Amino acid sequence: MAIKMSSTFLLRKLHQLSGIVPLGAFFAVHMYTNSTAMNGAAVFNEHVQDIHNMPYLIFIEVFGIFLPLLFHSIYGVLISTESRPNVLGYGYARNWFYFFQRATGIFLFVFLLFHILNLRFGLIPGLESYSNPVAGNAHRAFSIVAAEFKNVSILIFYIFGVVATSWHLAYGLWLFAVDWGIVIGEKAQKYSLYLCIGLAIFFGAVGVNAAISFVRPCGLFPSIVCEDDAPPSKIDAPVAPRRF
Ligand code: HEM
Repeated sequence: MAIKMSSTFLLRKLHQLSGIVPLGAFFAVHMYTNSTAMNGAAVFNEHVQDIHNMPYLIFIEVFGIFLPLLFHSIYGVLISTESRPNVLGYGYARNWFYFFQRATGIFLFVFLLFHILNLRFGLIPGLESYSNPVAGNAHRAFSIVAAEFKNVSILIFYIFGVVATSWHLAYGLWLFAVDWGIVIGEKAQKYSLYLCIGLAIFFGAVGVNAAISFVRPCGLFPSIVCEDDAPPSKIDAPVAPRRF
């Protein structure tokens, strides 16, 4: 008899947990760092440099991001292919949410592969980061991302990326809370679902505003909300490259 990946208890629990810690926690920190772009190139570059200065960074990346992401996405795609969406037969909100959870997961597989190969490893020919990724070039981090976002299709792809991640994480948090017996009663499940939808909207808005901040100072907000940027001389000050 064939074993269904979706019914392998331990793997399923690990899959749910890895989506929240470390991946969900990483996403929240990542959106914070990206939001510093609201205050201009110098501030964003400084925050990226602070990350690059962290001790043991390569181990944090491999064991805290890349391996959990690899496991979470491969297992997620496997269980998505086993799912049977029934939104056409039963158009209930929760059926749609179930469908979106899987659809965003598959989209994120493609988006994150592109995003990491592009900005982290500089492996996408024709783009600003090619052979010159943000890793090792913190002093140019803002200008690399801003140059790529001048291409409207790349900016839109990233906007879809942050919106899809926000939904996937927030609804995943609710599924986790229900599945692990943290919210049990019908009312508790209903109100916690509203809370998670609110969280998805919050993360989505912060992420979209961060993306816009690379093409428009202060993003969608009036400039009074943001700090003045530092003089250009400070922006391009040389910084020691990252070595592994
Ligand atoms: C506004 C949209 C985004 C921008 C501007 C952005 C920017 C960046 C930059 C500049 C890097 C390279 C960091 C470095 O090498 O120091 C990076 C890496 C990364 N990003 Fe994003 N990102 C965005 C959206 C997302 C989303 C939605 C996710 C989903 C979780 C994500 C996940 C990652 C991951 C996993 C890495 C590799 C982390 C590492 O190796 O340190 N990003 N991003």
